[in-house]
Amino acid sequence: MNNADQIEYWNGPAGQKWVDQSNRLDAMLAPFADKVIAAADLKSGEAVMDIGCGAGALNLRAAAKVGAAHGALGVDVSAPLIALARARAAEANAPARFELADASVFTAPDPVGIVISRFGVMFFEDPAPAFANIRQSVKPDGRLAFICWQALSLNDWALAPLQAAMAFLKEAPAPADPTAPGPFAFHDKDRVARILSDAGWANVSIDPVETAIILPGDDVETTAKFMMQLGPLSRLLAAQGIDEAQVEAALITLMQDHKKPDGRIAMKSACWMVSADNA
Ligand SMILES: C[S@@+](CC[C@H](N)C(=O)[O-])C[C@H]1O[C@@H](n2cnc3c(N)ncnc32)[C@H](O)[C@@H]1O
Repeated sequence: MNNADQIEYWNGPAGQKWVDQSNRLDAMLAPFADKVIAAADLKSGEAVMDIGCGAGALNLRAAAKVGAAHGALGVDVSAPLIALARARAAEANAPARFELADASVFTAPDPVGIVISRFGVMFFEDPAPAFANIRQSVKPDGRLAFICWQALSLNDWALAPLQAAMAFLKEAPAPADPTAPGPFAFHDKDRVARILSDAGWANVSIDPVETAIILPGDDVETTAKFMMQLGPLSRLLAAQGIDEAQVEAALITLMQDHKKPDGRIAMKSACWMVSADNA
């Protein structure tokens, strides 16, 4: 299996931006960690593995739930994010460990009771074999609980900044394969169900999570800048060398339009909460 493109991506400027913006990202994505933790129903003493753990926020939450007996193991391909996750765990003295590895070929040293993920499992070149490999690290009665994005068209927080930037594109973006590794690769719930059953997971359940997402930043300018640095828009800006000042002005207007009376900037998001059992 070859995840070389994603490994390069998450170890390059994108991984560094996730490190630089980690506190803001964690604030924005905290409600989705809540959903995974609720679905996972972690038991004290249970061993957990978090796939694509990034800077470790979900894994640290899991570690606090399961305690020190086995602790929680985070796995990620990004060296800068794993370094930050380890530093956070050390600072909090948390029973969390972090491994720099490609989850599609990594095996946990001891089988875990549950695999969890917040937006960390949509980046495999070949997802069914990757999920089959992940299952090898899970106890016979173990389970899986992860959250992933539905289609870009249903996620205003990602689509609206892209649309605001369209006027400044040098060329129309090439039509992308909607199932190619990336944040929205798991938009089709039937495909996700097929991937998991091909990988040997049973009792797959996939439920919608539709909620407003609060974008980070104390003012529209900060939020606009943040949205230019992460996600699909940042990839487009980098690929086309677009005039960032014009895009920033358009995004500030967009953020003003979405500002609520309490000052927060909220946009629609849509995810799938996915659960399964080891067969
Ligand atoms: C969108 S980020 C989510 C990070 C984290 N779960 C969070 O919610 O903050 C996706 C993460 O998946 C990781 N990733 C991508 N491909 C991977 C692979 N094959 N094995 C392990 N991690 C991978 C990336 O390095 C990145 O940290």
